[in-house]
Amino acid sequence: MAVSLKPVVKVSDKLMEMLNKAIAREIQVSIQYMWQHVQVMGVKAVAVQDKFKQTAIAEMKHAEKIAERLWYLGGTPTTKPTPIVVGENLKEFLEFDTQAEVEAIEMYQKIIEMAQKEKDVTTAFIFKEILEDEEEHHDLFTTMLEEV
Ligand SMILES: [Fe+2]
Ligand SMILES: [Fe+2]
Repeated sequence: MAVSLKPVVKVSDKLMEMLNKAIAREIQVSIQYMWQHVQVMGVKAVAVQDKFKQTAIAEMKHAEKIAERLWYLGGTPTTKPTPIVVGENLKEFLEFDTQAEVEAIEMYQKIIEMAQKEKDVTTAFIFKEILEDEEEHHDLFTTMLEEV
């Protein structure tokens, strides 16, 4: 008996393209937040430095998770981030980051919807978990922004 080596789950090119867009933005924010961690200055820096670092690491884990999924589905993960915007000061950092999280939330809601339509339960599940993290990040950045 010949066993099929093809993935059991087949999704549209459009969904795979969306996963690659998600990877591009996860790499973007991963670098963005890590460089903000490095560059943050002033009295308030001590309080926020680690938050940028922890969030950057969380984003890199998202990139890896989505890349694994895309690879399984037959796609090739991109190595190119969407444009990275670090900012000049803490307030700017947090404004860019809040914006990035809003974009993530909106994009991932769309991906969950698409995956569900295509009966790709696992991708939907993965993005539900990631979405929860992004909502936490959004909450963190907006809370920090109130203090700046
Ligand atoms: Fe993320
Ligand atoms: Fe995030």
